[in-house]
Amino acid sequence: MGLDFSNPIGLAAGFDRCGMLLDGAARSGLGSVELGSLVAESPDFDRARSALRVFRSVRPRGNPLVVGVSLMPRPHSPWRQAPIEIASCLRGLRGLADYVTLNPGRAGSTPADCLERFGAIVEHAVRSAGPGPSLPQLVVKLPAAWSAGVEPVPIAAAFARLGARGLLIAAERSGAHDHAASLRRLRLAFGPSLCLISVGGIDTPGTAALRLAAGATLIQIHCAARGSRRIEWIDETLVRLARAKFGRPRKIGSRTGILHCQETEGRS
Ligand SMILES: Cc1cc2nc3c(=O)[nH]c(=O)nc-3n(C[C@H](O)[C@H](O)[C@H](O)COP(=O)(O)O)c2cc1C
Repeated sequence: MGLDFSNPIGLAAGFDRCGMLLDGAARSGLGSVELGSLVAESPDFDRARSALRVFRSVRPRGNPLVVGVSLMPRPHSPWRQAPIEIASCLRGLRGLADYVTLNPGRAGSTPADCLERFGAIVEHAVRSAGPGPSLPQLVVKLPAAWSAGVEPVPIAAAFARLGARGLLIAAERSGAHDHAASLRRLRLAFGPSLCLISVGGIDTPGTAALRLAAGATLIQIHCAARGSRRIEWIDETLVRLARAKFGRPRKIGSRTGILHCQETEGRS
């Protein structure tokens, strides 16, 4: 995505919907946070934008925390209206969010629906961009139901052709094996050019390491970030990943730099 992550562990959408925890997340050693999911013209969207403005006044983009925002269509928006609304949110997040994830949202939406909508969003957003900071990079969320037993490469290629720079691939706990196989196939097909974000069921340093070894560029956690042991979890995982990468962990005191994650490396 052309972004520089201080490490591959991120906080998944739904945890810090409106950006109230950004400072804490940066301090806890996370490499990224995904706000949302949010819908256009909602009080939560405005809250997240305000929180991001405050955060950016102290910390410039991507330094040291990469911030994404997950957007989804409003539940009752007419089909043709949704891309216009999301494109307008994208413009509203210029200079604030590093990337935006498009969450297909509605139960029952298919990859074909989402592709059509994604194409329309890109068209509206680019056409109406005007001068100013560049638009956030685009990531598409592939719900677990879309990847179960399905060859992921054609879907990924179709989104990449339309301008997606990354895919957020969700896994069900019971489907972790298929999920790892999908990551491997995607990494093989796309090399380092596509950012692959794995989410779902990552609750031990071992599962984190396995997802990265399978080809994920980044991993996201939700349940593992809850409770009083969350900072220890992040530390322990970073140390384990650093050991796998460098042979032995570097100084643990400053977490940033233990495992600097260049997306182009593809895996850790
Ligand atoms: C309370 C809660 C709210 C969530 N809200 C969202 C959301 O708004 N958007 C989204 O894409 N995922 C949402 N998720 C899914 C999480 O981002 C994550 O994919 C899921 O919890 C699996 O990760 P885990 O096994 O680490 O918990 C939510 C999950 C939980 C538990």
